[in-house]
Amino acid sequence: MADLNGTVALITGAGSGVGRATALRLAREGAGVGLLGRRPGPLEATAAEARQLGGRAVVLPADVADDAAVEAAVARLVRELGGLDVLVYSAGVGLYGPVERYARADWDRTFATNVTGLFLCARAVLPHLRQRGGGSIIAISSGAGRRGYANLAAYSASKFAVIGFMESLAEEVGPDGIKCSTILPGTILTDFGPTSAEQKRTSGAKYLLPEDVADAILFLLTRPAQAWVQQLNLWPF
Ligand SMILES: NC(=O)c1ccc[n+]([C@@H]2O[C@H](COP(=O)([O-])OP(=O)(O)OC[C@H]3O[C@@H](n4cnc5c(N)ncnc54)[C@H](OP(=O)(O)O)[C@@H]3O)[C@@H](O)[C@H]2O)c1
Repeated sequence: MADLNGTVALITGAGSGVGRATALRLAREGAGVGLLGRRPGPLEATAAEARQLGGRAVVLPADVADDAAVEAAVARLVRELGGLDVLVYSAGVGLYGPVERYARADWDRTFATNVTGLFLCARAVLPHLRQRGGGSIIAISSGAGRRGYANLAAYSASKFAVIGFMESLAEEVGPDGIKCSTILPGTILTDFGPTSAEQKRTSGAKYLLPEDVADAILFLLTRPAQAWVQQLNLWPF
């Protein structure tokens, strides 16, 4: 068992998929978890499971693109759990379609959720990580953050942006003991994007489980102090 006792993690997108699996994995290892997402219902469900596993959990309903809501959620988490060591940024949307017919509103929402939210959450947690003398920021990009795919232009551009942001942040805050890592997963069996988990399961294509990504996050968080994994490509096999 990895010892995350005393560690506090803020996890965005914690009501479903990768965020939920990560919250439960970290809670099982002894971490306190702050669960951020827009819908309180799924966050409450994750919190109940995390508490059953012995972890402390705080439900933080917020939109990642809302500066004030993000700041308030981080402040509340620090107040209730006594500090903050880790940000796992898993919130995201996958709105697919051909560029010629792509709505401006979908473009804006893609960037607000996948990129601006990451910036706002990172900015809000950094002072608290510094206060602890270091910490980790882990973002979920995608295989589509390395190469483009037809009908995924907005999504792919946003996930390229995640990588650029995280590479820059790593240079900025690495010297202060804050490890910035990005995971680039292939297809994961969740309801993300236009296809349901069930459609993915029955499509014949290979997929990862959300727990595989949670395991990778635990791996990143448990490297010894002198080791830093900057990027991790995680493919179905
Ligand atoms: N599934 C895949 O095949 C796949 C592959 C590669 C990368 N990824 C990436 O993995 C990450 C997790 O996706 P997933 O598969 O776990 O999908 P998911 O189950 O749909 O999770 C996305 C989460 O983001 C939250 N969210 C969306 N917009 C938000 C907002 N404005 N503010 C706060 N929370 C918001 C959602 O909760 P609310 O709706 O309640 O806010 C939801 O819990 C995403 O970044 C995705 O791009 C997924």
